[in-house]
Amino acid sequence: MSADPFNLFARWLADADESGLAEPTACALATASADGRPSCRMVLLKAHGPDGFVVYTNLDSPKARDLKENPRAELCFYWMPLKRQVRVHGPVEPVEAATADAYFASRPRLSRIGAWASRQSEPMESPLDLEKNVMAVAARFGFGRIPRPDNWSGFRLLPDTLEFWMEKPFRQHHRVRFHRENNSWTKQRLFP
Ligand SMILES: Cc1cc2nc3c(=O)[nH]c(=O)nc-3n(C[C@H](O)[C@H](O)[C@H](O)COP(=O)(O)O)c2cc1C
Repeated sequence: MSADPFNLFARWLADADESGLAEPTACALATASADGRPSCRMVLLKAHGPDGFVVYTNLDSPKARDLKENPRAELCFYWMPLKRQVRVHGPVEPVEAATADAYFASRPRLSRIGAWASRQSEPMESPLDLEKNVMAVAARFGFGRIPRPDNWSGFRLLPDTLEFWMEKPFRQHHRVRFHRENNSWTKQRLFP
């Protein structure tokens, strides 16, 4: 395995992409509230590297509330065709407005409308409620520019630990953990 966890992650993600997986950037995002209540859900990774791992979401959602009150998280990827898992752990910070604006502007128009229309994770009486919101947002912006909603942005996880796991026959799996302390990385093999 490579000595650089970010190069290794990039290579494994590229392998996952080439394997034909529909959503190779899909990962589980684990957060915890200030009083320690854990929760976990899938998100799509939108940027990665030494400067951080970035995901986007609704800022009024439970996950965003967790990240505001307890800014630490873990991402977990499992690429089934490759039988490989990666866990990425570290503190989390909000993405700068300009970065979020640029990413939002790159999204398909209907996804931008969806970000305005969904009150993510709030109770919804009927699917028509979402449809009505979508139509209202579409009418409001017409053919004009759709700006990023104030309550939609990204979080950047700054990895201090990355763990790579690769399946091997007879449970002799390879497992390597990279850990950063005082700006230098150590690499440690672990029992599977
Ligand atoms: C494959 C997949 C990718 C998803 N990607 C995102 C995402 O990038 N951002 C997001 O807010 N929700 C995403 N979701 C929805 C979340 O899993 C979750 O249902 C939603 O964000 C509400 O989470 P919360 O109530 O814990 O805040 C995705 C779901 C799936 C199955």
